[in-house]
Amino acid sequence: MDEKDLVIPRHVAIILDGNGRYAKAHKLPRRLGHKAGCETLEQIVEDAARLGIGYLTVYAFSTENWKRSEEEVGSLMSLFRYYLKKLVKVAMENNVKVVSIGDTSRFDEDIREKLGDTIKQTSANTGMVFAVAINYGSRDEIKRCVKKLAAKAAQGLISPEDITEEMISRELDTADIPDPDLLIRTAGEQRLSNFLLWQSAYTEFYYTDVLWPDFHRPQLIEAIESYNKRERRFGGRL
Ligand code: FPP
Repeated sequence: MDEKDLVIPRHVAIILDGNGRYAKAHKLPRRLGHKAGCETLEQIVEDAARLGIGYLTVYAFSTENWKRSEEEVGSLMSLFRYYLKKLVKVAMENNVKVVSIGDTSRFDEDIREKLGDTIKQTSANTGMVFAVAINYGSRDEIKRCVKKLAAKAAQGLISPEDITEEMISRELDTADIPDPDLLIRTAGEQRLSNFLLWQSAYTEFYYTDVLWPDFHRPQLIEAIESYNKRERRFGGRL
């Protein structure tokens, strides 16, 4: 398929997997696998923005990732600090607006501050929205949403029988983000791993054996080509 004829999905979500296996394959410490993953992400943000993708959401740190070794969690935190600084530059150069989903309250204050600054500095950008999922887990997100709706009901602001799907969507972290059209997972696993469970009800899934640090523009195009070959009906809903 000619690249210019491709229908570009409005929202692409990616489960970045395989940094560890990349490190192992290259006889590197795991930390350097994550570093390579960050460099790939930087490039993909730029590629996605240039391709005209409207929203890119990536699973950078899940609620389960805290269970990794102290050393690995520590090196991921150092990477976030370093990467957030670089992200502002990439975002400003590409008119990208950065947002986050997930419960950031558990991160150290300096990381929360850096993330907050990045979001603020890029908030007037009008191009692609880049949503970083950190300390994100769908069940946690849905639990927080249910708590908010229950509190509103307890205060008499809403009545339980009037709760609609739209109201739930509006209370999720992704309130301002449309549901993903295409969800990519790298490194061969075929699981959703607690990512965007509610939002991916009608999403096309694309799995590839390519490890995340090796995922570049040609692999992104391949995923979009595969998406283009699928028959979508009912305005995007199969
Ligand atoms: C999965 O690889 C990847 C992660 C747990 C972290 C990914 C995070 C980044 C690339 C940094 C992004 C940073 C920001 C601020 C957006 P894995 O360790 O599960 O790989 P394996 O399954 O091969 O061991």
